[in-house]
Amino acid sequence: ANALRIGLAGLGTVGTGVIQLIEENSALIARRAGRPIIITAVTARDRTKDRGVDLTPYRWVDDMGELATAADVDVVVELVGGSDGPALTLARETIGAGRALVTANKAMIAHHGAELGALADAKGAPLKFEAAVAGGIPVIQGLRDGAAANRIDRVYGILNGTCNFILSAMERDGRDFTDVLADAQAKGFAEADPSFDIDGVDAAHKLSILASLSFGAEIDFAGVDIRGIRKIIAADIAQAQALGYRIRLIGLAEVDGENGGASLFQRVQPCLVPLDHPLANVTGATNAVVAEGNFSGRLLFQGAGAGDRPTASAVVADLVDIARKETGPAFSIPTTELEKLPRATAAHR
Ligand code: HSE
Repeated sequence: ANALRIGLAGLGTVGTGVIQLIEENSALIARRAGRPIIITAVTARDRTKDRGVDLTPYRWVDDMGELATAADVDVVVELVGGSDGPALTLARETIGAGRALVTANKAMIAHHGAELGALADAKGAPLKFEAAVAGGIPVIQGLRDGAAANRIDRVYGILNGTCNFILSAMERDGRDFTDVLADAQAKGFAEADPSFDIDGVDAAHKLSILASLSFGAEIDFAGVDIRGIRKIIAADIAQAQALGYRIRLIGLAEVDGENGGASLFQRVQPCLVPLDHPLANVTGATNAVVAEGNFSGRLLFQGAGAGDRPTASAVVADLVDIARKETGPAFSIPTTELEKLPRATAAHR
């Protein structure tokens, strides 16, 4: 069968993970996808950097924009990052050319998902972003497809691996915040700009995407009320523990009120989680998402929220879907039909 040909933009932690996964699991991927998935072209800022993977089998592309229309590419995988700039240009050009785009870029989807989704739906070009939320956990597919028959009123969880890694290391070892952050950076969990992790922005990107999928609402990243973990000190953690709680950075979105009067509440903040709640026992760079469906009941999605291999797993799952042509609209419903919900204020609650 004819192979699905990938143009890979960005060769950082996740990009190298994708190369390794596609090589190591090529036979089982081909069986499941119904055809081989192969990388044909790659691009990154620095050609000479040693990434521990052999790039010689792939055509090196100097100008990233070329992938959008290259003759040897069927799908562009964007792992460059950044909400705007080269990643957004590549995404617009790829989808604009009617070509499939797979991205792990939560910042770009949070800011431009409505535009890109509408363009993708109009062009019939798949736009997939499983890796943008909660790393290796198939939560996008879980909400968009698995829970498709439910009304979901509430979605919440631990959406940033770096913060969870820091909070759980602080509580386990009583270690210093900055010391643990350096560890998370060395492991490849932290964002290029770690303030995105620590100040809750990364979790807010992901929350706004989950809210859109769950409620059929237009993404409203600017409507997320955000507080990070920068001010949490060892004494806070100790005090919480003494009272029977753990501190977790939780993103929560819910729809208040019925049709007509419905409004969207979205917040990221450190919360006291009782020890017997499943989220209290989520430690390390793990993520967990809870969604409450009116027929499914409470669903818990849990797994590695960051890192090269788990995130690559999500990227390649999207490629398998595309190879099988099981794609459909970018969000849970056609992007142009997503509801614009007014923001609920804290005073509503
Ligand atoms: N910096 C992110 C995190 C990476 O720590 O969760 C995965 O999106």
